[in-house]
Amino acid sequence: MNLPPKVMTIFGTRPEAIKMAPLVKALQASQHLRTVTCVTAQHREMLDQVLDLFAITPDHDLDIMRQRQSLNGTLRRALAGLETVFAEERPDLVLVHGDTLTTFAGALAAFYQKTPIGHVEAGLRTFDKYLPYPEEINRRLTGVLADLHFAPTSVARDHLIAEGVSPDIIYVTGNTVIDALRTTVKDDYSFVCPELRQLDPALRTIVVTLHRRENWGEPIAAACRAIKRLLQDVPDTQVVFAVHLNPVVRETVYAILGGLERVLLVDPLIATDYHNLVARSYLVLSDSGGVQEEAPSLGKPVLVVRTVTERPEAVAAGTVRLVGVEEENIYNETLNLLTDQTAYQQMAQAKNPYGDGFASERIVQAIEYYFGLRDARPADYL
Ligand code: UD1
Ligand code: UDP
Repeated sequence: MNLPPKVMTIFGTRPEAIKMAPLVKALQASQHLRTVTCVTAQHREMLDQVLDLFAITPDHDLDIMRQRQSLNGTLRRALAGLETVFAEERPDLVLVHGDTLTTFAGALAAFYQKTPIGHVEAGLRTFDKYLPYPEEINRRLTGVLADLHFAPTSVARDHLIAEGVSPDIIYVTGNTVIDALRTTVKDDYSFVCPELRQLDPALRTIVVTLHRRENWGEPIAAACRAIKRLLQDVPDTQVVFAVHLNPVVRETVYAILGGLERVLLVDPLIATDYHNLVARSYLVLSDSGGVQEEAPSLGKPVLVVRTVTERPEAVAAGTVRLVGVEEENIYNETLNLLTDQTAYQQMAQAKNPYGDGFASERIVQAIEYYFGLRDARPADYL
């Protein structure tokens, strides 16, 4: 008797884990597929937080993270570890997510074994080689290697078609982050992090995350200076800054915002705390990708500390605005939302261009169809 096809998911950073967790669960629930989970652990603590939260025990853990790791070193360790895993598992299909070094390493290692590749969150583009760096190139290279493209939106699908990818191998699925959000946000949620329970309910909360490589140094410093001025000028606000574990980021943030009143600098929050914090916040200031996708469903304005975004759907929905990387503009745009109720209400609309919470199911159905285990192609989202 033939064994069911073996599908191996590969991921390694926090955002990949949050977005792959619902898919891992959906794959495990399929009666037609076998599932193997391989983490590179490009992130260690931030990955483990997510694995614990979603109760996922990886079959393989490459444990590649080093402090202040370089791009080349991370890629090299990922490829070396994956070679061993591929030899042992011999998967029939590999799934990678997004645009990190783990994504590209997973796709390249699969290609070298002539193993088919499915790319989740495919087709995002800024069309600028260095924005974001190195993610724009990681996702384009992964797109070149992929045999199945799971595009979150029709915008992403159209990018792939314009690059010559056959529509037959593109599925518009929605983003799996919405699948995850469905399970994390609750009205009666109680924070795990004790400091979040101490927040002053009378103050408006600005949630901040900043980590992008191209923002290291002056752009992150400029955003921190803008935040410092806003706290002085708008007394009914407080800031919760969930500081990424990257020491390069932490040095800048703590130097400017450490020890200030009404600023809570916390280590990365578990996703349930973070999602519920955003749900109760006034606005978000961030350069994160995932945060731009979550905010529209939570109805919270997100000011994005970047000059371009690969997520134009959220900008079109009205909940996301690019504010660039200059202190003055970040200050002015944030102040505007804190003082102009009309401007605020225009952005604080709960809309959701990113999915209905069933992206993972569509991806599993597409994989079953790919292996001839299902008669019909799943319908595209939207
Ligand atoms: C990586 C991804 C980026 C993604 C981001 C999500 C690449 C090149 N970058 O960037 O696309 O948006 O993850 O957060 O793939 N660290 C820890 N513990 C952790 C995680 C990180 O100590 O759990 C520290 C380590 O010193 C590590 C450094 O952060 O060397 C940087 O991690 P790395 O994955 O290289 O880069 P990120 O900036 O996190
Ligand atoms: N997030 C989290 N804890 C935090 C901050 C963010 O769980 O303290 C989640 C957030 O909800 C989103 C994801 O992390 O799903 C985004 O990850 P990150 O900003 O590290 O990466 P990016 O999306 O920019 O690649």
